[in-house]
Parts: sequence; structure tokens; C-alpha cells
Amino acid sequence: MEMTNFWSWWIIILIVIHVVGYALLLQKTSKLKSEKHKPGETTGHTWDGIEEYNNPLPKWWFYLFVLTIVFTVGYLAYYPGMGNFKGVSGWTSEKAWKEENDAVLAKRAELFSTFIDKPIPVMIKDEKAMAIGERLFANHCSTCHGSDAQGAQGFPNLADDDWLYGGDADTLVASITNGRNGIMPPWGAALGDEGVNQVAAYVRNFSEEGQDEKLVTEGKAKFAMFCAACHGADAKGNHMLGAPNLTDDIWLHSYDSSMLEMVINDGISGQMPAHNELLDANSIKVLAAYIYSLTNE
Ligand code: HEC
Ligand code: HEC
Repeated sequence: MEMTNFWSWWIIILIVIHVVGYALLLQKTSKLKSEKHKPGETTGHTWDGIEEYNNPLPKWWFYLFVLTIVFTVGYLAYYPGMGNFKGVSGWTSEKAWKEENDAVLAKRAELFSTFIDKPIPVMIKDEKAMAIGERLFANHCSTCHGSDAQGAQGFPNLADDDWLYGGDADTLVASITNGRNGIMPPWGAALGDEGVNQVAAYVRNFSEEGQDEKLVTEGKAKFAMFCAACHGADAKGNHMLGAPNLTDDIWLHSYDSSMLEMVINDGISGQMPAHNELLDANSIKVLAAYIYSLTNE
């Protein structure tokens, strides 16, 4: 950032006065002492009977001072520091940051170059790629999907073969890049308590056989009317909409007691944030490969 001329000169003059001042002071004191110095002479000061000798500065001490002055002059000539004077090196913090950043990116590109062009089903055989994928997952995904990718209530398990949107390479990349937003609308108003209980019995019967037969039959009819459009006629879900398979006893929103009825009554939704602004395309590809590797050999 440029400062005004006044402040620039203010700083330059202050620095020059200081450096020249120190140099003169150093020269003067060292000369005074060595010319006049007589061994054993005291300054005349005494404290509690201790007399102060008038000895010159040790040589190493003196040269250390000289060195700091030389360093100051060299530093201020090379680097920016004297007001608006940019220094002969042309160094700026911005340039230094860019160089470091470019170096990191170049190193990473080199690291990635050994596997990034491989298709995902092949990339999963590359141990280095998988180690990078695992680290990226720990940094960016584990807060929601768990460190083992097994998910939690509302956050899908990515390590099993049950997919909301699909587990093929392209779909995984799309899920991570653009995010997902699965919306299950509320059905309480349309179905009433009785209707909700009927479809719930029908859904529950897939994983817990032996539900009340009458409820299941009524529920099946209502399911075809209200639910099949999204969850499919066979209730096995629809990847286009992220509508879960309801027949496999794998639940996105766990079903202790009456949770199933609650979800149908009130609706529920889940949001996977888009990562295209947080991660570059290569990192997303490595992440997709890592997830792919959890369910594919
Ligand atoms: C803020 C929480 C959150 C974070 C962070 C997050 N996810 Fe998700 N993710 C979700 C939710 C919630 C869903 C389910 C979306 C839905 O219900 O439609 C999901 C869905 C997915 C799916 C689709 C699963 C399927 O069955 O089709 C994939 C793949 C996925 N996430 C991968 C990732 C990866 C990789 C990362 C890290 C880059 C990540 N997620 C980070 C919350 C998150
Ligand atoms: C507009 C499409 C749509 C319709 C219609 C619909 N659902 Fe859903 N349903 C979804 C989506 C999408 C989800 C996943 C919500 C999420 O990502 O959190 C879902 C989730 C569910 C779940 C939770 C599944 C789990 O694994 O936790 C149940 C149960 C369910 N629906 C039952 C029903 C029933 C019963 C009906 C009919 C009364 C119905 N749905 C109608 C789209 C729909």
C-alpha cells in the first residue's frame, strides 16, 4: 500500500537519523574510551563500596553493534522499509505469497499427475490417491458423514451400497460438486392420522413383517396414490429425486418408535452442500474415487 509523500519522508528521515545517530554514538564512545583509557582507572562512581572501572567495550560487543548497523543498511536497501522506496529486490508480501502458493500447487499437480487422468474405477487401485482421498474426506466431509463415512441420522452412510442418488463415479462427482437437496413433503394434511398410520404400516411391513394386515392393505393403496411417484411403485426409491428405498431396512432418519409416522406426517429434508467453490475439480475427483473405493474392489 502506498503512503502519502509526507509519511514516506517522515519515516525515511527518522530511520536515517536513527542509524546515523547510532553509528556516531558508537564511534564517539569507543574512541573516547580507548584514547583516554588507563588500566585500573575508575569512573569515580561507587555504590555500597563497589567502584566502577572505566573499561572500554569488549571488541566482540563493539563489532556486534557495527554488524547490526551494516545489516540495517543492507536490509533497507534490499527489502521495502524506507517509506515508499520498494527496495532493490522488488520483494512484496503479495509476490512472496504467490510464489509459495504456486510452488505448493505445482508440487500438488505433480503428485496428482500420476493418477488424476485415470478413470475412477481404476484410480481406486492407486494407494497414494486413496491416501489423499482419505485426508480430504477427514478435512471436508467427516463432520457430517462420520470419520468412517458411515453417516449418522440424517447424514447418509457412504460406505454401504444403498444410495439416495447413486454410487457410480459420475453421480458421486455430481453429488459432491453441486450438492443435493432431498425433499420429502409433509403428508399429514392429505392423509390424516389414519392414512399416515396405514402407509406407515405398509412401509414398516417390508422390514418388519407381520404388521396389521388391514392397515397394510389400505396403506398399499394410498402409497400407490401419494408416494409411488417419488419412491417408486415397488417402494425401492428413485435416484433422480434422492427418494430412499423404503424396503431395505436401511434408514436415513432412524426409526425408533414412531419416527416413521412423524417423517410421513411432517415431511423431512436433507441438504448436502455444494463443494464446487470449496474444492477444485481434481480434489473432488479424488474424493469421489475414495468413496467409490469404500464399496468397490
Ligand atoms: C453439512 C453436512 C455435510 C457435509 C460437510 C458433507 N455432506 Fe455429503 N451429504 C449431506 C447430507 C445431509 C446428504 C443427504 C442429502 C439428502 O438428503 O438429499 C449428503 C449426501 C451426500 C452424497 C450422496 C449420497 C447418496 O446416497 O447418494 C454423497 C456422495 C456425499 N454426500 C458426499 C460428501 C462428500 C465427499 C463430502 C465432503 C466433500 C460431503 N458429502 C460433505 C451432508 C453433508
Ligand atoms: C416429492 C417426492 C416424494 C413423495 C411424493 C414422497 N416422498 Fe418420501 N421422501 C422423499 C425424499 C426426497 C426423501 C429423502 C429426504 C431426505 O433426503 O432427507 C424421502 C424420505 C422418506 C422417508 C424416510 C426414509 C429414510 O430412509 O429415512 C420415508 C419413510 C418416506 N419418505 C415415506 C414416504 C411416504 C409414505 C410417502 C407417501 C405418503 C412419501 N414418502 C412421499 C420424496 C418423496
